[in-house]
Amino acid sequence: MLHDLEGLKGKVALVTGASGGIGEAVARRLAAGGLKVAGVARRADRLQALQAELAAAGGVFLPLPADVRDADAVQGAVAATIERFGGVDVLVNNAGLGRDEPLLDGDPAAWREMLDVNVLALCLFTQAAIASMRARGDVGHVVHIGSMAGHRMPAGTSGAFYAATKHAVRALTEGLRRELHAAGSGVRVTAISPGYVETGFAAVFTGQPDAGGVVYGQYPCVQPAEIADLVVFAVTRPPHVQIHDLLVRPLGQPA
Ligand SMILES: NC(=O)c1ccc[n+]([C@@H]2O[C@H](COP(=O)([O-])OP(=O)(O)OC[C@H]3O[C@@H](n4cnc5c(N)ncnc54)[C@H](OP(=O)(O)O)[C@@H]3O)[C@@H](O)[C@H]2O)c1
Repeated sequence: MLHDLEGLKGKVALVTGASGGIGEAVARRLAAGGLKVAGVARRADRLQALQAELAAAGGVFLPLPADVRDADAVQGAVAATIERFGGVDVLVNNAGLGRDEPLLDGDPAAWREMLDVNVLALCLFTQAAIASMRARGDVGHVVHIGSMAGHRMPAGTSGAFYAATKHAVRALTEGLRRELHAAGSGVRVTAISPGYVETGFAAVFTGQPDAGGVVYGQYPCVQPAEIADLVVFAVTRPPHVQIHDLLVRPLGQPA
């Protein structure tokens, strides 16, 4: 374990996209560290399986099946977390996806999905969770899972719209930091911007269930648990230390 979550034991974390990949790893890690974790995603079966597994190990996990494109469902998930656990202390905005839909001839419905999940849902969760953090002493932490695609265009001609949503996350991270600073708030905001992480992302991006083997087989990719390490690192810094953005690539990733 990279850092000790002892200081956050009993606190409440809300993790979006907790049914797989990075979000699931973050939820596991925070629950193992003694936080009460609420996890949002559409695949209820996977959230329930995670709940059973974490409960058997003494962890607390609340499954919140929801499609985050639905603003009411987002509000409902935050309300359910507050009702069950009393508030939100840590929000991990991780739910996200890319689809390989080019600007010249891609499906606008797929662009809208990326915008709704990667940008709008992130803002809706942030707004609602920060209201709870501010009501709980104006402390807490918001972690956005951005992407290296928010810092430069990915190689080649794929993924321009996805990159646009992650550039938006980068702008929203700094914008949120400035608003919180102007408000004199103790709530901190961090972005973590990964390169290739071995998850279900490639299968969704390509629409091919087996794509992960090819995409993540080129060189050793970062593992979801290694991103969870970085989330723990960020949220366990002393209260006056704000980690702004952690950029992380596999050693073998060329661009
Ligand atoms: N893997 C990479 O190489 C990589 C690199 C940079 C950044 N990222 C970012 O990392 C984050 C997590 O992705 P991942 O790599 O872990 O991919 P993943 O394995 O495909 O996980 C994506 C998660 O987002 C959830 N999600 C997607 N659409 C949703 C919706 N409409 N409503 C609710 N939940 C939704 C999925 O849950 P359901 O399908 O069950 O709804 C799933 O839990 C994303 O923001 C992604 O952009 C990934």
